[in-house]
Amino acid sequence: MNLFTRAGEAVRDLWQPAAGAARGILSNLRTWRRGLALVTTAAPGIVFLYIALVIVISIVPVLQVWLLRLVVDGLAVAVGGAANSVTPLLALAVLYALTYVIPAGLEPIQRTLNAWLEDRAVAEMDRRLMDAGIRLTDLVRIERPPFQDQLRLVQDAIFFLPRLIAYLQMGLGTALTLGGMLLLLARLHPLLPLLLAVLSLPHLFSEKRLQEIRYQSMIDRSRAAREMRYCARITTEPAAAKEIRVFGLGDFFLRRFRSRFATAYEEMRRVRLKYLRASAAFTALHALALAGGFWYVAVQARAGQLTLGDIALYFGVVIQTQGRLQGLVFWSGFQYEILLHLRGLFSFLDQAKPAIALPTPRQARQAPAELHQGIELQGIHFRYPEGTLPVLEDVSARLPCGAVTALVGANGAGKSTLVKLLTRMYDPDSGEINLDGVPLAQYDLKSLRRRTAVLYQDFTRFSLTLRENIELGAIAPEEGGLDMEEAARWSGADEVAAGLPQGFDTPLTRRFQGGVELSGGEWQKVALARAFVRDAALVILDEPTAALDAEAEYRLFERFRQLVAGKTAMIISHRFSTVRMADQILVLEEGRIIEAGSHDELVSLAGRYAELFEMQAGRYR
Ligand SMILES: Nc1ncnc2c1ncn2[C@@H]1O[C@H](COP(=O)(O)OP(=O)(O)O)[C@@H](O)[C@H]1O
Ligand SMILES: [Mg+2]
Repeated sequence: MNLFTRAGEAVRDLWQPAAGAARGILSNLRTWRRGLALVTTAAPGIVFLYIALVIVISIVPVLQVWLLRLVVDGLAVAVGGAANSVTPLLALAVLYALTYVIPAGLEPIQRTLNAWLEDRAVAEMDRRLMDAGIRLTDLVRIERPPFQDQLRLVQDAIFFLPRLIAYLQMGLGTALTLGGMLLLLARLHPLLPLLLAVLSLPHLFSEKRLQEIRYQSMIDRSRAAREMRYCARITTEPAAAKEIRVFGLGDFFLRRFRSRFATAYEEMRRVRLKYLRASAAFTALHALALAGGFWYVAVQARAGQLTLGDIALYFGVVIQTQGRLQGLVFWSGFQYEILLHLRGLFSFLDQAKPAIALPTPRQARQAPAELHQGIELQGIHFRYPEGTLPVLEDVSARLPCGAVTALVGANGAGKSTLVKLLTRMYDPDSGEINLDGVPLAQYDLKSLRRRTAVLYQDFTRFSLTLRENIELGAIAPEEGGLDMEEAARWSGADEVAAGLPQGFDTPLTRRFQGGVELSGGEWQKVALARAFVRDAALVILDEPTAALDAEAEYRLFERFRQLVAGKTAMIISHRFSTVRMADQILVLEEGRIIEAGSHDELVSLAGRYAELFEMQAGRYR
């Protein structure tokens, strides 16, 4: 091998890690820049004032040490009887005293600004997170378990934001003070500041590495921590209070909490021990450096090379520097932790993009206000991203316009999943859903959803008033079909309102004073009204009558037919009294539509539908 290639290899061996490190540093800097931008956009004026204050406060200690030297030298001269006047000495002494007073006076102002800045930055971050949440137009990411883990870390990161500001302040302040101190120290011997700085580097790096490990173990622990939180919550919240008591589940959750804690704690203990050992070793090294410094001072003083003031300056610098170097070491570690949090946060924000394919604004079609053909499902296949089993396999069906289609099938057959596909919470893996002959994916998503009214099986019980709970169904004026009270009459929610202390303005939650909790059936009527206020072309109700009594159910269906006249409607139900009134019935089993037709047709077919119908009807004979 000639010298040339060997040199080339050596360069490459050096270059690659160096380039990697440079890339790492660049990406860190970018993250910091975004973090800083976040704080400054939250409150630009306050940031400016705050920085100015930090600069003043951190330069004062340097002045202090310098003045100390002057005062001590002046005193030495005065004691020797060589001074003409004590006035300059007095003036110096007063200045020296002021260096103690000024920071004490400025610090409360700094703290106030700090608190102000923190509040703004946290609010700004929360707002950006909400933005990101809203940007996720589908459920693909939201329903995956890792999303919850990531969200928890991100929420921790928000909690870390105030520390980000404190650390920025500490970093800037420490750097200024330390820089000044090292300059003073260099007057005594140019190598002294270098020695102190170099010996604290290993400490700096080990700290950084340990923070990395700590953060990683936090991610690993995340699941255990989440389960712990769940156990703590479920035993104290009203939601599960009845079942926890009647089944005597308190001990079960306590035991589970303890076992998860043991897992999390063991991991933490391991990391903390490691942390302790490394930091002890590097502290010893640092102490040795200081001892060396003291030895040098003693020798120089004996040789008469230094004045009394120089000695005072030296001690002043060492005392001030030591604490700050230590601080810088911790600061570096913490800043790394913040950096990792920020990175998690920004990657979450950056990833908050829809997972379903959206048309470009130019290509997007507007969904029609009224359908002419209805909806057609063609060979739909679907499985959840985490799921191994297919939920829908080759589903083909038509939901004609102007007709009510009922969908029946056993629990877990995939009915609610089909509703999620129809509302584009997910896209099918293959096959197509056409609306008036055009694939759903070609419509502008917003316009598509604007024309869809859905009552999900697991509808949301908003902690708002009854009125708001209904009005949310048509939050923009152009979305409204019926007015709120009319929709309430259609769904029977008007009767619910009549029984409430403040009628429609009653808050539907026990969380607020004067609020009430509704029964399952009453909530269902409210949620139905929410679907009814919307001026939709496609109306989907997923088990809307599950919690309704027989009479309410009958009345609802009667009205429903009138309400959706001319629209495309689908209703999912287990009650054949409801189902039999539909124009068309689809039977979903094992991910396929196995029968389709009217009630009479399906009964005379004597297949699965007839069997299910007989089972239920038989009970009432
Ligand atoms: N978000 C999800 N992730 C993974 N699997 C799911 C999810 N939601 C439902 N499933 C599964 O899909 C199947 C169909 O569920 P679903 O559509 O709710 O049934 P149905 O409404 O007919 O009772 C079930 O086996 C269910 O466990
Ligand atoms: Mg369902």
